[in-house]
Amino acid sequence: MDDADVTVQEGDPTCGDMIQLQLKIEDNVIEDVKFLSFGCAANIATGSALTEMVKGETLGESKKVTVKDIKEEVGGLPPVKMHCAVLATRALESALKKAIEMYESGEGSESEPPD
Ligand code: FES
Repeated sequence: MDDADVTVQEGDPTCGDMIQLQLKIEDNVIEDVKFLSFGCAANIATGSALTEMVKGETLGESKKVTVKDIKEEVGGLPPVKMHCAVLATRALESALKKAIEMYESGEGSESEPPD
């Protein structure tokens, strides 16, 4: 995404896979979200599910997405692949933390901090 407000990258030390997540935020709402997975099929599936779940949501609503929610969204994951959903969720947490820091420092496009 060329005009992302936030870009983060998270890695899983156990498998070495990585995911990049980008958010475009307008009026405290995630207007667009893209991911780039350098991981397994389960990470691609959970990353995709994550983007579907948070697009159009406020930053506050997006913070409520859990690993369990993502697991259910993809129709379940075997225990050995749960860390793939954890990686996607960790990327979201990092992106939201960065977005909130951006708002609090006045770098955001909106003067109001996210709820
Ligand atoms: Fe590493 Fe899926 S095996 S993210």
